[in-house]
Amino acid sequence: MCGIVGYIGFEQAGPFLLDGLQALEYRGYDSAGICLNDGSKLIVKKAKGKVFDLRTLTHDGHDTKGTVGIGHTRWATHGEPSDVNAHPHLSESGRFAVVHNGIIENYQQLKNYLTAKGVVFRSMTDTEVIAQLMEYYYKGDLIETVIRVLEKLDGSYALGVISQENPDEIIAVRKESPLIIGLGENENFLASDVTAILSKTRTIYRMENDEIAILGREGVKIINTDKEEIHKEIETIDWDVNAAQKGGYEHFMFKEIMEQPKAISDTIAPRIKNGRVVLDEVNLSAEELKQFNKINILACGSAYHVGVVAKYIFEKMLRIPVEADLASEFRYRDPIVNEKTLTIVISQSGETADTKEAMKEAQRRGSHVISIVNVVGSSIAVESDDVIYTWAGPEIAVATTKAYSTQLAVVYLLALYFGDMLGTVVPDEYKALVQELEDLPNKIETVLENKERIQYLASKLFNSKDVFFIGRNIDYALSLEGSLKLKEISYIHSEAYAAGELKHGTISLIEEGTPVIALATHEELIAKIVSNIEEVKTRGAQVMCIACDNHKELERVGETIFIPRVCDMLLPSLAVIPLQLFAYYVASLKGCDIDQPRNLAKSVTVE
Ligand code: AGP
Repeated sequence: MCGIVGYIGFEQAGPFLLDGLQALEYRGYDSAGICLNDGSKLIVKKAKGKVFDLRTLTHDGHDTKGTVGIGHTRWATHGEPSDVNAHPHLSESGRFAVVHNGIIENYQQLKNYLTAKGVVFRSMTDTEVIAQLMEYYYKGDLIETVIRVLEKLDGSYALGVISQENPDEIIAVRKESPLIIGLGENENFLASDVTAILSKTRTIYRMENDEIAILGREGVKIINTDKEEIHKEIETIDWDVNAAQKGGYEHFMFKEIMEQPKAISDTIAPRIKNGRVVLDEVNLSAEELKQFNKINILACGSAYHVGVVAKYIFEKMLRIPVEADLASEFRYRDPIVNEKTLTIVISQSGETADTKEAMKEAQRRGSHVISIVNVVGSSIAVESDDVIYTWAGPEIAVATTKAYSTQLAVVYLLALYFGDMLGTVVPDEYKALVQELEDLPNKIETVLENKERIQYLASKLFNSKDVFFIGRNIDYALSLEGSLKLKEISYIHSEAYAAGELKHGTISLIEEGTPVIALATHEELIAKIVSNIEEVKTRGAQVMCIACDNHKELERVGETIFIPRVCDMLLPSLAVIPLQLFAYYVASLKGCDIDQPRNLAKSVTVE
């Protein structure tokens, strides 16, 4: 989604703003812009399209002098992607410029009010009302005006504001939308995401709701809306800068697929000690755990697909009913959740608006929330009762791969940890599962080694119009993810179906040559899925099958990819690799924008 960057210092701001926006490109956007104070006035440069277009327009940011400025990448919500709707937005006289992430829910009322007062709007955006309100209320004090404007806004926002008359300040505010302040020497930075400022500093303040930051060249002051100073802790980012760079790979997505063994190992290894799973992050005693009569999993997109896998695993291993819910549906359906429900929230970014709000709804109803999050210090991580971090490192490609895999790894850890506490996993089984889990990264390496075969199969199918994914049990849960991966980056229509459901309607879509990707890893159901494969083959389907290497006979059902046989619980981690690679190679053959697929954003911070 949208990205914010800001600079105040003694260097020319433009080049840094553009580098910062480039680093935020991965979030997904459709236009970009910058605004600098050149000492006497605010100069705005905006362009629909890529940061590259803005670079061309501004000679890489060198065409405007000024050592204070703000920049933005916009993912359109109100108003089409266009130059005029791109941020920064100026007030009518050009006195104030604003960049904004989030949504102003009451913007139409505010716009009507200001229009009636004679204010002329230029764009279709909700953001422009903020700039216009700044001018409307301004009586000579910038901070007073910001506070006055905030009182009028409903919705979510991360804001950067500069003013023509204050060339020595940037004002930044946050409410429900992430924002950080980077601290440098004789220069300070503003960003929605640390990747934008990592090349300059690793020390940051993480803004919280209703805090106002006043950035100067030689310092940053943080106040609340009563103008009282807040003393915040400085956080040091310990990310490896290379982790947010392509490192010789053509795409971040491919790099991240290849990083999965390490990401899983980083997530699992510190939590297995002397053959036992240790989850110090979970503050629940065995007694408390036994009080729960339901587990409720909340997430969106791929994280939700992890939740569907978890449902199968937890129900089998813990003997507790589990509901995996789409966060956007859960929020508005008056769910039956209370203090006897354990809620598990899954999110890579920790900022997904629907997931965050669903979590709050569960908490309001008395549920204990454990979150599984990748981004340290993100809203969901901070606001949940317990957080288990996935140590995937920064995930840049919009299509998740290593975050999905590390979320699965945490699900396995939780299943073992809870299974042990509840006594539903017997010691021998526990020991064997832990051993297999520790060896999982090696097994994934062997699947990755088979990538040329998947590339070959992608070359046979990349011209398809529709692709079906089928599976049973956990294989069905995984087929949801395989289908989403293909759709989001290759733009090929695809459907995931529980194989037993095909006959109830969807099989009518199968005709000569329709590609069907069948997941056949679940040992107990091999015979059943083979019958379903035969049913589609009989109707002309072209089958690609993913099976375990102890079922070589499945070679006869179609083009089969074999993965090593491991225990059922861990199979999704191996079977997902060919699905990710397949989507990647198909998208690559089609020439798609793999890391930034059209219309998509990395972190969906609006409802
Ligand atoms: C997956 O490839 C997508 N990018 C998307 O479905 C994603 O998983 C979803 O938006 C949830 O994001 P989160 O994990 O950051 O909450």
